[in-house]
Amino acid sequence: MKVWLDRRKACGNFRALQTHTSQVDFASNDYLGLARSSSLKEVVIQEWGKLQGVGSTGSRLLTGNRAYTEKLEGEIAAFHGSEAGLLFNCGFMANLGLITALAKTGATFLFDAEIHASMREGFKLSKSRAFPFRHQDLEHLEKRLKKCSASSDTYICVESVYSTDGSLSPLAEIGALAEAYGAQLIVDEAHAVGVFGPQGRGLAQQVFAQVIPFGKGVGAFGAIVLGSKELKDFLVNFATPFMYSTALPDHCLAAIQSSYQIFPHLEVERKHLKSLIEMAHFSPSTIQPIPISGNHQARKLSCYLASKGFDVRALLSPTVQRGKEVLRLCLHAFNSKEELTRLLSLVKAYHG
Ligand SMILES: Cc1ncc(COP(=O)(O)O)c(C=O)c1O
Repeated sequence: MKVWLDRRKACGNFRALQTHTSQVDFASNDYLGLARSSSLKEVVIQEWGKLQGVGSTGSRLLTGNRAYTEKLEGEIAAFHGSEAGLLFNCGFMANLGLITALAKTGATFLFDAEIHASMREGFKLSKSRAFPFRHQDLEHLEKRLKKCSASSDTYICVESVYSTDGSLSPLAEIGALAEAYGAQLIVDEAHAVGVFGPQGRGLAQQVFAQVIPFGKGVGAFGAIVLGSKELKDFLVNFATPFMYSTALPDHCLAAIQSSYQIFPHLEVERKHLKSLIEMAHFSPSTIQPIPISGNHQARKLSCYLASKGFDVRALLSPTVQRGKEVLRLCLHAFNSKEELTRLLSLVKAYHG
């Protein structure tokens, strides 16, 4: 273990846990400020009061299923225009469960090189045929599609908003390629729901599977996989993180339910976010990557900004490619234009 840890330290990417700070938050995924909202908290407590208790007592396949859970899944699916939805305990488990279940059918996966670790773990665990295409490179994706055998189902895996660089997937073009080559599309909407689309519905439409983790813009916890009723039945039968884990507790269900009552109406917050995105201008989303090559350099800048009262975290290699390290600025509806202006001018002055 020590050798591994020392190696991390030498590369400048040793991770240590930090407690919450009083700095201005330009780091969390709480894009709409719902995770810290006292009015949402009150609604959640009221909603939780209508439910049974604390723990869910078992897996959904045993004693952990509730009429409330099924109703919630149906309501979320309807809101996003999907036939069905299945809740998972978090986004990581949703992606892992979806990929490892599909891999059992002999599926092939083509995935964007910057796809989230939870899908990668799924490919690795299932030892499936999984091939990366260069980040956002549709020509490369098409080359990969041409090579796919017609004898197995092919799934293209993308994020609608990439957590690494904040870029948006050209979902219409990817959808057209999928259709042309008989492939299916899986879209992780972690960083889109709440922020993008009408009423914050996200960016994917009519895809094979839409994965929505609730710990970001929704401000809660848990996740859902949306798709057909057949996909839901398939996951209930073959997605092991769903089958063999205690179901989400009531307070999480209440939080998800309550947030879905509130976030569709937060148009003022979405508009403000849009203006912050335009001001920062490093990407078209709430995730703004400021290039700063090298783990040590990126960390140094993050520490400097912390000393000035701003919490901004660095994305280090190997999470991103070596040389492609960035300061990852996350914008929120509660950040003011003045705060952003001050932060950007500090970054500019630091670079000289
Ligand atoms: C794109 C993406 N997918 C999935 C996840 C995992 O979601 P959760 O935090 O709910 O496990 C994350 C969180 O970091 C993410 O950024």
